[in-house]
Amino acid sequence: MGQVITLTSGKGGTGKTTLCAALACCLAQEGHRVLCIDADVGLRNLDISLGMRDLAPISFADVLADRYSLSEATPHPEFPNLFLLTAPVSEKPETIRFQDFGALLDTVRQYFDFCLIDSAAGVGDGFHFAVTFADRILVVATPDPASLRDAAETADQLSLMGKQDIKLVVNRVTPAVFRALRWTVDDVMDEIGLPLIGIVPEDSKVVLAAANNQPLILCTDRKAARGCLHIARRLCGEKVPLLRIH
Ligand SMILES: Nc1ncnc2c1ncn2[C@@H]1O[C@H](COP(=O)(O)OP(=O)(O)OP(=O)(O)O)[C@@H](O)[C@H]1O
Ligand SMILES: [Mg+2]
Repeated sequence: MGQVITLTSGKGGTGKTTLCAALACCLAQEGHRVLCIDADVGLRNLDISLGMRDLAPISFADVLADRYSLSEATPHPEFPNLFLLTAPVSEKPETIRFQDFGALLDTVRQYFDFCLIDSAAGVGDGFHFAVTFADRILVVATPDPASLRDAAETADQLSLMGKQDIKLVVNRVTPAVFRALRWTVDDVMDEIGLPLIGIVPEDSKVVLAAANNQPLILCTDRKAARGCLHIARRLCGEKVPLLRIH
């Protein structure tokens, strides 16, 4: 039985889409069968981070409406066991029936090892839609006070919804910030109230890869790509030491 993992955040722009794509590619590279679902209805961009922006966009709404079947999800050009269902552009989150999406994910669990859902920012309809049926949730924050506070509030909302497997990813970490704030990993976990599953460094390759329509992990195996590979391995149950930010 596969697992559905949603990446979410309170604040926008923390790196959900970037990390969703990179983790999906890492899991696919490790041999797992992976489906990515872009749940950012109206503002899709997971295809760009996956290096799939020129490919036919079949959306999860197309599958819900029986215009396409799940087996027609767009395959990745470089990872044959990675597939994408993009977000519809002209529908609103509130027009998509929660229960239909839940039923689709039940089928997805039968055919894929991992389904990674890229959530919209905030805690509105798009957030509820993306997290309601997830087995595991990754809250993505950046190491600034506003983002960390929003992550803590998101974690509280998720707990109220009865979600239990929630982990924190801190993205865009620079050595200077860690040094200047004299942070330890324990401080960050205490502040948010969530266990940390990984740290991803700030890395200019993230923007360069997206600009070249290339998945990050095919451009480099260092910095952000390495941070994502470590998180992917931890998602599979491996013990991998936390990345050192020098
Ligand atoms: N580790 C990183 N190093 C450098 N730049 C990064 C990193 N992670 C993300 N970015 C950049 O930050 C910006 C926001 O990233 P992304 O779109 O993945 O965030 P998001 O959380 O999905 O945003 P939204 O809430 O709007 O959906 C992008 O320009 C991306 O290239
Ligand atoms: Mg996004």
